[in-house]
Amino acid sequence: MKVAVLGYGTVGVGVYEMLCAAEGLEAGPVLVRPGKADTAFKVTEIQAIVADPTVDAVAEVMGGVEPAFSYAMAAIEAGKHFVTSNKALVAAKGVELNRAARAKGVAFLFSAACGGAIPFLHNLARAAETDTVLSCGGILNGTTNFMLDQMQGTGKDYADALKEAQALGYAEADPTADVTGLDALRKIMLACAAAWGVLPQEGLLNEGIDSLSAADVKDFMSRGLVCRLLASGRRAEDGRISAYVEPVLVGAGDAETAVLKNFNMARYVGQNSGSIAMIGQGAGRYPTASAVLRDLSGIAQGESAMFPAGCTYGAADNSAESHAYYVRLPKSCEDRLPVSEVLAECGDSVTVLTEPMSVSCMHTLAGEIRKNGNSLFFAAIRR
Ligand SMILES: NC(=O)c1ccc[n+]([C@@H]2O[C@H](COP(=O)([O-])OP(=O)(O)OC[C@H]3O[C@@H](n4cnc5c(N)ncnc54)[C@H](OP(=O)(O)O)[C@@H]3O)[C@@H](O)[C@H]2O)c1
Repeated sequence: MKVAVLGYGTVGVGVYEMLCAAEGLEAGPVLVRPGKADTAFKVTEIQAIVADPTVDAVAEVMGGVEPAFSYAMAAIEAGKHFVTSNKALVAAKGVELNRAARAKGVAFLFSAACGGAIPFLHNLARAAETDTVLSCGGILNGTTNFMLDQMQGTGKDYADALKEAQALGYAEADPTADVTGLDALRKIMLACAAAWGVLPQEGLLNEGIDSLSAADVKDFMSRGLVCRLLASGRRAEDGRISAYVEPVLVGAGDAETAVLKNFNMARYVGQNSGSIAMIGQGAGRYPTASAVLRDLSGIAQGESAMFPAGCTYGAADNSAESHAYYVRLPKSCEDRLPVSEVLAECGDSVTVLTEPMSVSCMHTLAGEIRKNGNSLFFAAIRR
């Protein structure tokens, strides 16, 4: 199978190198920007790929929604299998791509877009065909896990942990999508669609780690708790799907506590299988490229889809998900929460535990309290 590659950056170089070395796969042309075609295998026009009858599959590793979506549709229309590592593309346009690929009888796979090297979506999609998936999620962002591990392991403050993550190439120059939980949210959107055939576009909630301070870390560690940024998806018995990302305080015995550095842990719970968890590298040139190559090899074995036929866009509803929360906020705002215990007071701020409250209520209240420039950190408590 001859594979064209769109994009020759961090992942693209890895995909091209691995294609050159892989048995049963052949490296085709690589799309680069105009002016950057400095060797014979590079081209600058998508038509050179789409109209090439020797190209069987296209691997998109450019990022962004456009022109990636137009190129993907053109490749699928031309009868080429389409594989991508681009979570932004699949989160925004996954339903159209799934429909078009099925109509054309070609594959549409995107393992690398959720969990990096971890074969999560592949297994989740196969489980959904034969079992009832009850929930899915986990640690789906390695940058923030690295930062949390640094803050908890060495006492670094947030800014220093971020600098370290950037120096090691784990965080981008603009780390917003990672630290606000948006990157993990896009991944849990894909997992929900693989598990339940609904790609949620509305009602999604993401809280990141960008308001976490070294003092917060010291405080909850003194209580035997560790913070992890967890993505959660669940389908309730009435069919409603929840999908959100938030910091969670876990205990020494919880599996997430053992996930250190920039590792990811993706998990799902099947009605019959029980809990399945997979740990591995969620990003990086070769780990990510390895997932792209695994998808391409899967196509040769007959794998063709990760979203079910009839997958649609929909909305998440996080109002029935409920936790107690650990919250640090201004004393003047304390009465807005259902406080069960005051843990500490320091100057103008207070740290409290809440009664169990809905995820949507906590996220909405946090947004309202911050509107006035107030500082607030919250994390769900795992019981
Ligand atoms: N890096 C990871 O560890 C990782 C892990 C999982 C998933 N992903 C996903 O994989 C994708 C690629 O990530 P990356 O880290 O490899 O990004 P990257 O290093 O920025 O590489 C993207 C490459 O695509 C090129 N490109 C962008 N638009 C193009 C266009 N219209 N025509 C031709 N070339 C174009 C860029 O060129 P310019 O530099 O000139 O813009 C760049 O060389 C993203 O969707 C990302 O979310 C990455």
